Formats: sequence, structure tokens, C-alpha cells
Amino acid sequence: MKQNLTRRGFVRLAAAGSAAMSWLATRQAPAVFAAADDKPALLGGRKAHSGGWPGWPEWREAWEPRVLEVLRSGVWCRSSGGPQVAEFETAYAKLLGAKRCLATASGTTALITALHVIGVDAGDEVIVSPYTFNATYNAILMHKALPVFADTDPATLTMDPATIESRITDRTRAIVPVHIYGMPCDMDPINAIAKKHKLGVVEDACQAWLAEYKGRMCGTLADMGCFSFQNSKHIPSGEGGAVTGNSDELLDRCHAYHNCGRATGTFQGDGCFTRGSNFRMQHFQAVILLQQIEKLVKETEKRRANADYLGAALKEIPGIAPAKLPENSRAVWHLYPMRYDAEKFNGLPLGRFLQALNAEGVHCGDGYSEQYNDGMLDEAIQSPGYKRLFSAKRLKDYRESFKELKGNKQVCDTTAAIFQNMLLTDRGAMDSIIEAIRKIHKHSAALAKG
Ligand SMILES: Cc1ncc(COP(=O)(O)O)c(C=O)c1O
Repeated sequence: MKQNLTRRGFVRLAAAGSAAMSWLATRQAPAVFAAADDKPALLGGRKAHSGGWPGWPEWREAWEPRVLEVLRSGVWCRSSGGPQVAEFETAYAKLLGAKRCLATASGTTALITALHVIGVDAGDEVIVSPYTFNATYNAILMHKALPVFADTDPATLTMDPATIESRITDRTRAIVPVHIYGMPCDMDPINAIAKKHKLGVVEDACQAWLAEYKGRMCGTLADMGCFSFQNSKHIPSGEGGAVTGNSDELLDRCHAYHNCGRATGTFQGDGCFTRGSNFRMQHFQAVILLQQIEKLVKETEKRRANADYLGAALKEIPGIAPAKLPENSRAVWHLYPMRYDAEKFNGLPLGRFLQALNAEGVHCGDGYSEQYNDGMLDEAIQSPGYKRLFSAKRLKDYRESFKELKGNKQVCDTTAAIFQNMLLTDRGAMDSIIEAIRKIHKHSAALAKG
């Protein structure tokens, strides 16, 4: 299942599964709860959840005039004029408490931009979390730099700060922690290590809109933060992204890089003073995003309340452990992960557990796989460019080092995750998820056999 079902695959699965049921239908037809002694649906019992799930993304008619206004203006691109992208940048920076925001074409291009500006260049190394969508390390590869993986802490699913320092070499330029599933990384120790070794830090906050760490928002906790507004995200615009930060100089450099190198802000002049590309957001995307800010804030609170409710109940089920968050932090739950211990389920393999849960009407995937074994990094390091930039010994040791990622392997092998749209439902639907898992636990021996 893991090989065939990428994270995007899960999202598509969730969206397809829920498309048939409108949000309204979900409300009108509350879930049917299974009695605790019901047979699992996979063994012929009644489904724990029969009410469907909200579709994603959602659209409101009231938002259409602003899209039409852009269409009719003929000014669709920010370099042709028009205020909408800048308007979104101001609103998003304010929402996060960041001094600046630069809107980009995608989360990937936001990462490419921030990494360039922090100084990542060909032949450098960047320490990154392996438990992420592969765009995080693809952005590093785009600079012909080496993504060096710190290990994942199985309790938090994020970068284990204790595994960073041993991976620093004289080529290391930056650290890229990933607030995966909207769960903040423990940023204090990461920033302290970066400071000690004079490294830049770029947060991959592509799944962490409004996530908080010690009273500050993700995306404002390091040199720069990067966001994605791709279709599956909590604030989507089809494609889209942003770089956020508090330094005018860094953000002006980002602006220039994303706009073909054209001077801007503190860098004045007619010419292009730096390399760059076209990573600009369109006004269409900006008006779609602007109109979702209030919705994002409200829905974030709803996901949090439902996640807290779920977490409290799931803790009581042996073999299911919600992820641990750093102290004084708040997640936003792009996915809601659960660490699964098959031994406490009579040896029921994770794949069969997921099959049973999906049969109950509870859409659930298994998160990210060990993507570094998929071939993309082999293709990169076997390319002529990487062979010119790094010694044969470094590349061999690098490939070998994937085996040291024991924490990450454990996370990939034992995580089950439900989707953000499911947290936008009511308590009854949360109860059906809890009941489904309890039922599977109770009948795990029979499920493991058959
Ligand atoms: C953690 C993470 N990083 C980076 C990206 C890349 O964002 P985009 O798809 O907008 O390029 C994503 C998007 O899925 C992501 O989830």
C-alpha cells in the first residue's frame, strides 16, 4: 500500500471518498455508532461511520466576484500591476505576526527561493527532516546541494534535534526543520545548534498555517518560513506558496530571486542585480487566498478542538498513541497521526489495521514512506553534476547513512493518519472514529487471522 499510495494519493483518496457526500449531507445524516461489541465491518459487521466526510477544498459563491474582477481587469500577473498579490502578502504577514511575506507560485518555489537567499549553493549540504513530502528535499537538490537527513523522533514525528550536530560538516549551510502535519518542531534546540555553527534555518511550514510554538507562529521562528497553498492545504489556491520572515534584507532578496532577479526594496536600480527565476503568484490565487483567511482561523480552532477530543480518547486504547507536541505549542493537524503498536493489537499488521479502519468508513492512510530508498536520491547522486561536486567517498557514505535513520523507519512503519477534513465534523463523527478503533482493537485477534 505504502509504495502505491503517496501522501498526495491519500489526500486524493480522502477527497474522492468524501466527494460523494456534501458537507450538508454529513450534518443531516449523523454517523451511526457501533455498539462496542459489534463485529468489525471487515468481518461483516456494521460500519462505525456511515455519514461521509466533508469534501475539500470548499468554495463559496460569495467569493466569486473578486475572481471575476481579476478576470475582467485583464491584469492577471503582478508584474503587469494590480494590488491583489501584495494585499495578500500584507494580510498573511499580519495573520502570522511576521514582518514580511512574499507570495510565490508554490511551496516548492518558496523553499527554492529561501534556500538560495540563505546561501545554499552547489556542493553545499543542508540538514533536513526525512519525514516530509519529497518537495522539501527536492528544493535542496534544485540547488545541487546534498539533503542530509537528521533522524525523526518517533514520539513527535519531527526532526530529532539530538541527531543534528553529528551530521554537520564543513559544507553544511542550513537546517530545514519540517513542521509535519502541522505539528511544530522543537525549534529552540534547532536554532541554538544553528547559531553555534553559523547555519541558516528555513522552516518548512508548508503544512503549518497558524501552528504555534511558545507563543509564536510557525514560519516566524527562524530566518525564513515557507508555506504551501496547494489544493489539499488548509488555505488552498490550487497552487501557491509564501516565504515569511522578519528581515527586510532577506525578504527583498527573496522578492528579487522570485522575480527574475529584478531589484526591489533595499536593492534599487533598473537592472537585475542577482540570479533569479519566475516564481510569481498570480492575482487569481491571491484573491482566492485572501477570502479564506477568516475561514482558516475558524477551521483551525475546530480541528484543534476535535483533535484534543480524539487524543484524549485514543490515549485510552492500548497500542494507539497520539503524537507528542513540544511544550507550549499548538498543532493545526493537516493530518492527525497515531502511532500504532501492532503487538498490542494481537500482531495485526498496520496494513490490515488500515484496511479495517477504512472498512468502518474512517478514511485513514499510513503517512510518508522511507522515500530516500525510492530512487530519487540515487538518481541525483549518480548524476555527473553531483559526482563533480562531491567526492566518491562522501556520496558512498551519504547513501549508507540512510540506514542510520532508525527513528524515521519506525515512524514510517508504525504511523496511521486521518485527514484534516475529517476534523471539521462534529463530535458524533469523532466518536465514530474512536468507536471504530476500539472495535478493531477488541477484535484484533480475529482480524489478524482472517
Ligand atoms: C511538507 C511540505 N513541503 C513542501 C511542499 C511543497 O509545496 P507545493 O506542493 O505547494 O509545491 C509540500 C506540499 O505538499 C509539503 O507538504
